[in-house]
Amino acid sequence: MDNFFDICIGDIPVKSPVAVASMAGITDGSYISDLADYIGIGFIGGYAIDEKTIHAAKDLIRQGRDEFLPGNVTEEIRKQVALVQKSGVVPGVNIRASEAGSLVTLARELGNGIIYEIDAHCRQKFMIDAGCGEYLLLHQEKLVSYVQALKIAGVLVSVKIRAGVASDDPELARLLWRAGADILHIDLMEFTHEYIRKIRNVTPIFIIANNSINTFEKAKEIFAHGADMVSLARQSDPVTLKTLNETITQYTREHGWYNAPKQLCRGGDIRSLAFCCMPVKPCPLLPTLDKYQISPQEFVSVKQEGVRGTPLEQGANTCFGSLAYCCKDTTPCMFRDSTLKQEGIRRSVYMNLKRDLSRKIMQHIFS
Ligand SMILES: Cc1cc2nc3c(=O)[nH]c(=O)nc-3n(C[C@H](O)[C@H](O)[C@H](O)COP(=O)(O)O)c2cc1C
Ligand code: SF4
Ligand code: SF4
Repeated sequence: MDNFFDICIGDIPVKSPVAVASMAGITDGSYISDLADYIGIGFIGGYAIDEKTIHAAKDLIRQGRDEFLPGNVTEEIRKQVALVQKSGVVPGVNIRASEAGSLVTLARELGNGIIYEIDAHCRQKFMIDAGCGEYLLLHQEKLVSYVQALKIAGVLVSVKIRAGVASDDPELARLLWRAGADILHIDLMEFTHEYIRKIRNVTPIFIIANNSINTFEKAKEIFAHGADMVSLARQSDPVTLKTLNETITQYTREHGWYNAPKQLCRGGDIRSLAFCCMPVKPCPLLPTLDKYQISPQEFVSVKQEGVRGTPLEQGANTCFGSLAYCCKDTTPCMFRDSTLKQEGIRRSVYMNLKRDLSRKIMQHIFS
C-alpha cells in the first residue's frame, strides 16, 4: 500500500497525493504528525533562516502576525523534521532566505531526505524588502541561483510560487525545471485548472496545486489537467484531509492512474497523447504534434516502442489494432473492454499501463 499512487520525489516514495502547505507560526512537526494518516508530504514553516529574514520576521511579529522564531533555527528545524519523519510523512521545509549561501549552509547541516522549499510566495513587505518571497518572482535570476545552489548541494528542491505575479508563469516553470527544481508548488489564487494545463504543457516538473482545493471534485479537476498533488493550508483539518485522501484512494482503486488527464480533444494536457488515436484524421492531435515538432511517424513509433512487451500491445479488434491507441477507461467502448476482459486486464491496471506509456511519451518530448 505504501506506494499505491506510484508517487516519488527523487527516490522518496510519497503515500498520498494530498499535502499540507506551510503556515508560518502554525505548521510544525506535531501539527503534521496529527494529520499523518491522511497526507503524503507535510510542509513545515516557513522559517526565516538568515539575518535579514529573521529581522523581517521580528517586524512581522511586532505587527501581530504569527512567525516561528526559535533561538537556534537549524536545531529547531532538525527537531521538527524528525517528528514529521517519525509519523511516516515526507518532510518539506518552507524557507525564507535572503541569499543562496544560507540555504546551502542549512542543506549541509540537515542533509537529505527533506524537501527544501524556497518561499517565493510571501507578499509581506518586510519579507520582500529582505529579498525573499515575491521578490524572487520579480528577480528570477536570484531564484534560479537558489535552486541551482541547493541542487549542487544534492538535495530535493521545491519552489512555492503565487500564480500571476511573475510576468510569464509557464516560462518561469520551464526556467525552474531547467535549473533542476524537483517541485513547483503553486498557490493558484483565482486561477483555474486551465492555468495548470498551461504549466503541464511546457514542463514535466512535479506540480503541487494549492488554494482552496478542499473537495474531491476540485482535486479531480486539477489532477485531470496536470497536477501531481494538491495541498491545503487553511483547511488542513482532519475531516477535510481524511475525506479527500479516502475519496482519491477509492477512485484510484477503481480507475488506477489517480491524475489521468482528459482526452486531448476534451481539453486534456500533453500527457493525454497516451490515449490518442493513430494520427490519421483532422483533429487536435496533428496541430499538437506540430507544436512539439513531432512528426506523425515519430509519434507512431514512440507509441509502439512505449508499449512493446506490455499488455497494451494487444488489441487486434480495436480501432487501430493496439490498446496503445485506445481511449480512457471512462469512455465507453465494447471493443476495448472485450480485449481487456479477454486478456484479464482490470480497468485500473489498464489505466496504470497508460500512465507508464504517458511517462515515456513525456520523456521523449522533454528530454
Ligand atoms: C496563516 C498563514 C501563514 C502562511 N505562511 C506561509 C509561509 O510561511 N510560506 C508559504 O509559502 N506560504 C504560507 N502561507 C500560504 C499557504 O501555504 C497557502 O498557499 C495559502 O493559504 C492558500 O492555500 P489554502 O487555500 O489551502 O489555505 C500561509 C497561509 C496562511 C493562512
Ligand atoms: S487523436 Fe483521437 S483522442 Fe486524440 S485528439 Fe484526435 S480524436 Fe481525440
Ligand atoms: S477501440 Fe474503442 S477505446 Fe479503442 S480507440 Fe477505438 S473507440 Fe477508442
